[in-house]
Amino acid sequence: MPNPFRHYEGVPVVDLPADPPVPAIAAWDVLCGAGGETTAVDGAAFLSQLFLYSAAISATKIAPATGSTYSLRVNPSSGNLHPTEFHFATRGVSGWADGLYHYRPSQHMAEQRAVGDFGFDGSLVIILTSIAWREAWKYRDRAYRYCLLDIGHAWQAVGLAARAMGCRCTATGSFDDVALAARLGLAGDEWPMLILTIEGGPIPLGASEPTVPTVPAGSPNRLSEHVLMPDWIPDIHAATSLNLEPWERPDSAFTASALGGRTFGEVARSRRSALDFVGGSAEITMAQLLALLSVTREPLLTIYIYVHRVSGLEPGLYRHSDTLERLKSGDQRVVAAGLSLGQNLAGNACIALSMVADLEGATARSGERGYRYAHMEAGAVGHRLYLAAEALGLRATGIGAFFDDRVREYLDLETGQVVYHFAIGYPVHDPRLEL
Ligand SMILES: Cc1cc2nc3c(=O)[nH]c(=O)nc-3n(C[C@H](O)[C@H](O)[C@H](O)COP(=O)(O)O)c2cc1C
Repeated sequence: MPNPFRHYEGVPVVDLPADPPVPAIAAWDVLCGAGGETTAVDGAAFLSQLFLYSAAISATKIAPATGSTYSLRVNPSSGNLHPTEFHFATRGVSGWADGLYHYRPSQHMAEQRAVGDFGFDGSLVIILTSIAWREAWKYRDRAYRYCLLDIGHAWQAVGLAARAMGCRCTATGSFDDVALAARLGLAGDEWPMLILTIEGGPIPLGASEPTVPTVPAGSPNRLSEHVLMPDWIPDIHAATSLNLEPWERPDSAFTASALGGRTFGEVARSRRSALDFVGGSAEITMAQLLALLSVTREPLLTIYIYVHRVSGLEPGLYRHSDTLERLKSGDQRVVAAGLSLGQNLAGNACIALSMVADLEGATARSGERGYRYAHMEAGAVGHRLYLAAEALGLRATGIGAFFDDRVREYLDLETGQVVYHFAIGYPVHDPRLEL
């Protein structure tokens, strides 16, 4: 396994305070679109709060067989491999030098790669990148999809944390990949995927003199002795680089009754993937199901639900648009687990989901680059589901491993592509976790 932490070495490392304010607003209110506030009065505290609740380490896992420990983060990642990196450019943020930084989650610090004005539109802009081979050594052909789903999770992790602090976040996926990578001085194995512009009154601003930026410095650490990367992954990435039809997404807001009072701070940092679910007879309520589904709306996606145990709702396969439409009746537990590459958790959960993307629509509008957006949307839905489940006292697990063609057949799809599975229910105890 390659080192999950990229560092740019040989540059100043700037401390982010360890105890920034806690976002006190209820997690459900944030999901429904309400903005919170922050008491951070300087740049370091503000940035520390933003990253602590979106990208930092939040737990440790011990592998029982070897005793090795692994860090778990606020944002989830397929196989916990974390191909996503967080870079950011600041201008005029109070007490914080204008420049280009790379967030270092292992120590909750910022590597200062350059100083000066990088000319982004806004005082705080975060650029999410992927190191695809860090995923490909394990997931081979499927790695690019996983990277995109992980980017969707990271996007929502940042966007919702920003909102919990009273800010807005706009995502831009259309840019010249090569020019942006050069501007950021990225290591050759890192690809820029999404730009997040954070705006709003709570960002502490001070005086700033326009200055010419220095050239980004720092040597990327070596993540492993060997780089395993199937040739076609860079090819897919290049193919999806071509169309620059603008793709810009503001925050999404949803209507749902508030069913849980847990704070955003608590929910974001205690979010975990369930190792498995208890199965048995424990049900979720119809109100919980509707609340979960309320956060799944995205332009390119249709949600199919394998209902196992929801009180008052017959088990079966359903499709969610404005209403719940039953497509098949009967027990779906074996089929849901089977379609999810035989992973029992999809059958032991109370519900499992298939997210189907309108790839034809996406590519008609954005060319092959639409492939990225469809997966990022699915990752974004996944992240909201993780937080919604946690806020409801349930738990969720993203499932990237499923049999694409079998799911298409089972759902009787004529168009579209299955991009992500999800399972939600009551978790079994996970003995590997240390908080
Ligand atoms: C895109 C994606 C795909 C995933 N696929 C699976 C999967 O197929 N099976 C599974 O058990 N967990 C899956 N997970 C959960 C990860 O293993 C989990 O996020 C990771 O181990 C980190 O743990 P945490 O979510 O508790 O931080 C997936 C997560 C993501 C984000």
